[in-house]
Amino acid sequence: MIFNIITLFPEFFKGFIENTIISRAVRKGIVGINLINCRDFTEDRYKSCDDYTYGGGAGMILRAGPLAGALDSIQVKGNKIIYPTPSGRLYTQERAKEYSKEECIVIICGRYEGIDQRIVDLYSPDEISIGDYIISGGEPAACVIMDSIIRLLKGVIKEESLREESFNNGLLEYPQYTRPEIFKGLRVPAVLLSGHHENIRKWRLKKSIEKTIMMRPDLLDQVIDDSEVSSEIKEIVNNIIEEGEENGFNKSN
Ligand code: ADE
Repeated sequence: MIFNIITLFPEFFKGFIENTIISRAVRKGIVGINLINCRDFTEDRYKSCDDYTYGGGAGMILRAGPLAGALDSIQVKGNKIIYPTPSGRLYTQERAKEYSKEECIVIICGRYEGIDQRIVDLYSPDEISIGDYIISGGEPAACVIMDSIIRLLKGVIKEESLREESFNNGLLEYPQYTRPEIFKGLRVPAVLLSGHHENIRKWRLKKSIEKTIMMRPDLLDQVIDDSEVSSEIKEIVNNIIEEGEENGFNKSN
């Protein structure tokens, strides 16, 4: 898979590419990353890529000309184009899975207050938000998106790890422990040392459900609505909710 990253700050990506799973994927030839500096597509001697917005406002936005020049230089027709922006659709694992099927992805990194709308109108990128908060540029968002896609590609991380993630039924991860058995007086739960696989599975499932109820009740609602979900999960959820209600706790707390 090829990533073409259009950015004002190619240097930003160096550490990310060299120090993460990405470097392994690049070395193995699974992924290629082209960094395209949109300053190379300016016409003025100051190589300016940003300007004030028509109608007034505090921030500067990226001009259409250099961005279009960068996009046209890589023949983007038919390639998936992603524009990370806080005004986009929320990024999800499902979308990462869809993107992992593409052969070539272009990511436009906006800076300052965004980009000229005509780039969106002309090139129809997927406008993607990585969360309901503002970061000051598209580069960190591009790294998040790339990482989430690349780790799904065959040969990048252990198939087993991906399988475990996808078997989580939309629940959050259960707590995990490694050596030593006792740390600052806290013991690893006995069930995990028992070697009893079925009990370990049940314990992990219950912990996953408890964690999801505490941290992301919105996800739990989706899990319960999902008819594919096993009756085992539904039963545990109901038990936890009943126990909680007896103790004066309810799901929205
Ligand atoms: N650029 C600034 N904030 C962003 C966000 N939350 N998601 C994607 N791109 C952004």
